[in-house]
Amino acid sequence: MSLMADPEIVDLYVLRRFVTAPAAFVQMVVTLYESAPPRRMQTPGGRLMSSEMTNCGALGWVSDHAGYRYVTQDPLTGSAWPEMPEAFRDLAGRAALAAGFGIFEPDACLINCYRGPAQMGAHRDADERDFSQPIVSVSLGAPAYFLWYGAQRRGSPAKLWLESGDVVVWGRSARKGYHAVQRPQGEVRYNLTLRKAG
Ligand code: SIN
Ligand code: FE2
Repeated sequence: MSLMADPEIVDLYVLRRFVTAPAAFVQMVVTLYESAPPRRMQTPGGRLMSSEMTNCGALGWVSDHAGYRYVTQDPLTGSAWPEMPEAFRDLAGRAALAAGFGIFEPDACLINCYRGPAQMGAHRDADERDFSQPIVSVSLGAPAYFLWYGAQRRGSPAKLWLESGDVVVWGRSARKGYHAVQRPQGEVRYNLTLRKAG
């Protein structure tokens, strides 16, 4: 198994087909949707994001007119986010270890759902407290291109083709790298982003 995404990209690893039963993970996402429905969030500037999001775990990432932040309660339901399934936590820990990042105990899992033309523009994950902790990103369902810009949000990004069960882990010098996701090449794609946010 090659961990290296691209010899030019340091501290980012692709673990191909790391999830052995991706369909079971999709089923867990669908079950989580019953208590924390997927919804399109607004950017602080007032634009509607094209992917549908929800969260599980102690902290959930949200975006609205007031900005980006982590909250303990789902603003839609007023309840705590659903508990993170043990299988998500376990997978993230094993992926971080396999990629050489040591013990990783996520407290937040953002769940993205991309249908049709939904995509995600270039951004970096920068709302967490401790940037020594890596990001573990799990792809499920339809494949899509993941674009890696690195330190600057310009130039031509590296293009990684991600399929169901592939896991990308980045940290250290890549931790604040800019990245984006293109529309799914199929009906629906899910992504789990596991983070140590608090
Ligand atoms: C994200 O960067 O939040 C999503 C990444 C992905 O969908 O692969
Ligand atoms: Fe991201």
